Amino acid sequence: MYQSKIKGLGKYVPDNIVTNEDLSKIMETSDEWIVERTGIKERRHIDKKSDDTTAVMGKKAAMQAIERSGVDKDDIDLIVFATLSPDYYFPGCGVQIQDMLSIHTCPAIDVRNQCSGYVYALSIADQFIKTGMYKNILVIGSENHSGGLDMTTRGRSVSVIFGDGAGAAVVGRSENEGQGILSTHLHSQGEFAEELALIGPSTNHWVPEIIKENPQENIPYFPYMNGQLVFKNAVVRFSEVIMEGLQKNNLEVSDLDMLIPHQANLRIAQFIQKKFKLNDDQVYNNIQRYGNTTAASIPIALTEAWEEGKIKEGDHVVLAAFGSGFTWASAILKW
Ligand code: ACO
Repeated sequence: MYQSKIKGLGKYVPDNIVTNEDLSKIMETSDEWIVERTGIKERRHIDKKSDDTTAVMGKKAAMQAIERSGVDKDDIDLIVFATLSPDYYFPGCGVQIQDMLSIHTCPAIDVRNQCSGYVYALSIADQFIKTGMYKNILVIGSENHSGGLDMTTRGRSVSVIFGDGAGAAVVGRSENEGQGILSTHLHSQGEFAEELALIGPSTNHWVPEIIKENPQENIPYFPYMNGQLVFKNAVVRFSEVIMEGLQKNNLEVSDLDMLIPHQANLRIAQFIQKKFKLNDDQVYNNIQRYGNTTAASIPIALTEAWEEGKIKEGDHVVLAAFGSGFTWASAILKW
């Protein structure tokens, strides 16, 4: 059996910075409310005049990851693309990336696991490498949230949290035993599916009916979030899935060099940090600058932590996520 490892990382965020002050001009909110509840100061929104889309941002992140990996794009055997905000209802962004990067007719899979999507995508890549079926896999997370948020006071409890961006990794075979992805751990609990969801448009909620049935309120094609229930479940599941991963590898919390949590909300990350008694330099947060970028948040944060020299060879790195589904997941890496 082979072991997989991250060979190259990349990220892309749009230039357009939207501050809390900017939002307070278009809805009833304030910098104070947003910072206190979420830690977010600003986020990026696609400039509507640019050509950026979920797939295009994913392509830009992927190009950087491919270049840094030293892997020839023609040697990519599989594309795994995680997003909740695809360009099209179908087909998925994976095939768009394949076309944009002129990659040969390898398979392309789209993953629909929202905030946990990137860890799910990495896990899929890890399994294909382990079995020996594929050697090099491009794993992308990208989100265009700003295209689908309710940017009015009605939608403020959700729309202030989310931002746009993309991250990517090339996952390949590890040459050194014990180095790379050690294990991945995935969970879901569908009974909470509608507690953090975008219900329509869908085959059950088609646009003309939605508008007829909901002329003003409760429009199901904007995301809904039961924030307090999400918070309560997130802190429990984050902790569980981090411990599950550490225990699987006979590691203690003290062995953890860097935790990259999905950037859901700074308060959730701080809760976990306190619970595990981690120092500031053992947890990477950039939600202050980017907001919550869902499937892109972990690869963006991982790329930045690596670029800033905060991850060194031999470090134990833990990726952990919780989100819509509910789904939650972790990956334990030895860098
Ligand atoms: N600006 C100002 N006021 C607001 C805003 C806003 N953006 N949004 C909501 N409010 C108001 C509400 O209307 C409410 O007013 P009321 O008391 O007059 O009714 C008041 O603020 C409190 O609203 P709550 O929803 O109770 O606020 P809460 O303290 O629960 O904070 C939050 C909301 C931040 C979403 C919180 O529940 C939370 O942290 N949840 C975790 C969920 C999360 O982090 N999700 C991230 C995305 S999902 C994921 O990645 C896992």
